[in-house]
Amino acid sequence: MKTFAVVNNKGGVGKTTVTVNLAAALAEEGFKVLIVDMDMQDNVRIWLNAPMPKVSLFDVLVNDENITKTITKVRDNIYLCPSGGEDLGAVPYLLKEKKNPATKLKLALEQVQNMYDYCLIDCSPSRTLLHTVALVASDFILIPVNMEWLSSVGSAQVKKTIADVKEKYNLETDIGLIIPTFVDRRRSKITDEVIDDLKLQYKDKLSPIPIRVNSKLSEAPAYGMTVFELKDQKGIEDFSDLAKEVIKIG
Ligand SMILES: Nc1ncnc2c1ncn2[C@@H]1O[C@H](COP(=O)(O)OP(=O)(O)O)[C@@H](O)[C@H]1O
Ligand SMILES: [Mg+2]
Repeated sequence: MKTFAVVNNKGGVGKTTVTVNLAAALAEEGFKVLIVDMDMQDNVRIWLNAPMPKVSLFDVLVNDENITKTITKVRDNIYLCPSGGEDLGAVPYLLKEKKNPATKLKLALEQVQNMYDYCLIDCSPSRTLLHTVALVASDFILIPVNMEWLSSVGSAQVKKTIADVKEKYNLETDIGLIIPTFVDRRRSKITDEVIDDLKLQYKDKLSPIPIRVNSKLSEAPAYGMTVFELKDQKGIEDFSDLAKEVIKIG
């Protein structure tokens, strides 16, 4: 299993959208995918119509619950470890008193290494211990970046966080891809400028496949569907191509 953390300190940049639809694209390719929802907003579970769990990521992190007990099948080839909702927000405080809090998820995922091909961790925007927990558990990091003026500055902050965590915990994890999101080249000069800047900063780590602005993508959660279920050609194209880039990485 290869584990990818989907991270950005900003909200609304497309982290959850990328996590769910990339999982669907990898599933379409025949891979078994585990999504770990690390955002207390519980968006992935609600989007994919999974029931409220008895045990969740919260229990894995705080009560050393076996992760397999939290996992439910949400689609063919897609499985979910749900966040636990608001309780997850207390985890940074509750974990402070525990031994080696940063490695909790990494160790939990080792138990399911042979059960899935990919694990995607949907992170919350707030830079708490949960980010560290996700980074320590990951082999690669995916950073969705939206096309706004301060986005490349934001991505540099994420890069710094990753560098700090890597050094502190002596990790091998690294940026897998920077994924431009909300891309509409026809309409905006800013888009071109942000992309150029990201290219300078990240070189070949910049995904050649951007996720285009797409109204169907914004409707998908309301319908409880992925772009594949919505049969949205534009979304299917973007995420199938993105999945191919991700498969090349690991
Ligand atoms: N490429 C896109 N085109 C149009 N709307 C999008 C796109 N990506 C995401 N959205 C919408 O933007 C909002 C924020 O996306 P989301 O994935 O929830 O961001 P995050 O998880 O980073 O907070 C959601 O309503 C989502 O449906
Ligand atoms: Mg989200």
